[in-house]
Amino acid sequence: MIVTGASRGIGADLARRISECGGGVVAVARSADAVTELAGSLPGPSAAVAGDVADPDVATAAVAAAEELGGLWGLVNNAGINPHYQPAVETTLAQWDEVLSVNLLGAVSFSRAVGAKLVEADRGGRIVNLGSIAGLTGLPNIAAYNASKAALDALTRTMAVELGPADILVNSVAPGTIATEMVDELMEANPALKERLVAKTPIGRVGVTSEASWPILFLLTDAASFITGQTLVIDGGRLAAG
Ligand SMILES: NC(=O)c1ccc[n+]([C@@H]2O[C@H](COP(=O)([O-])OP(=O)(O)OC[C@H]3O[C@@H](n4cnc5c(N)ncnc54)[C@H](OP(=O)(O)O)[C@@H]3O)[C@@H](O)[C@H]2O)c1
Repeated sequence: MIVTGASRGIGADLARRISECGGGVVAVARSADAVTELAGSLPGPSAAVAGDVADPDVATAAVAAAEELGGLWGLVNNAGINPHYQPAVETTLAQWDEVLSVNLLGAVSFSRAVGAKLVEADRGGRIVNLGSIAGLTGLPNIAAYNASKAALDALTRTMAVELGPADILVNSVAPGTIATEMVDELMEANPALKERLVAKTPIGRVGVTSEASWPILFLLTDAASFITGQTLVIDGGRLAAG
C-alpha cells in the first residue's frame, strides 16, 4: 500500500497500522529523514520514497517501490496542506495553485499512476482519498483547502464508477478536527478556533490520529468489499449537529 504524507500525523499512524496488520507499506513524504525513519521502524515490508506529491515522477517512483516490495495493491492519498487562513477574496491565485497542486493534483497524479497499474494487474485494489468535512461545508477562511477536498470527493466518485468493473474500490474519508501538526499550526495562528471547533462537536473534543486511521484501514480490508464511491465522515458528530 502506498501512503502519501506518511512522515507524521494521520499518514504515519495509518502506515504503522497497515504494517501491523501484515501489509507492505511505501511511505511517501518530502522529509527524507522522517519518512525513512518511519519506514525503517515498521514491523513489516516497507520502503520510503522522499519527494513532493506534486511531482509526477514521485508517483512513478512510489509505484516502482511498491512493485519491488512484492506487489501494488492500493493507495492512500493522505498528503495535504492547509497553509493559508484568510477570506477567499484575499486569497491569491498563487496560493490557490499551491494548495490545489498538492491536495488535488498530487492525489490525481498518484491515482493515475496507481490506477493504471492496478487495472493492468487485474487483481482489484483499493484507493482511499483524504477528504475533510471542509469539503462538505463552507468553513470560512480556507477556501482553497475546502475546494481541494470537495474536488477529491468528486474524483472519488468518478474513479469508483470507472474502476468498479476492475474491482478497484475508491472511497474517501472526511475527518473533522484531528490533533496533528496541521491543526496545531492553524490553532496557534487562531487561538479561539479550537474552542469554537470543540464547542460545535457533540463528542466535545478533537479526535486523535488513530480515530482517523482505523476507519481508513477498514476501507482497505475485505470487510469493505462492497463499499465504493463513498465519503465516510469521521467527525465526532460535527456535521450532524448542523
Ligand atoms: N488533522 C485534521 O484535522 C484533518 C482533518 C481533515 C482532513 N485532514 C487531512 O488528512 C491528511 C493528513 O493530515 P494531517 O493532519 O495528518 O497533516 P500533517 O500532520 O500536517 O501531515 C501532513 C503529511 O503530508 C505530507 N506532505 C505535505 N505536503 C506534501 C507534499 N507536497 N508532498 C509530499 N508529502 C507532503 C507531510 O510530510 P512532509 O512535510 O514531510 O512532506 C506530512 O507527512 C491531509 O490530507 C489533511 O488535509 C486532516
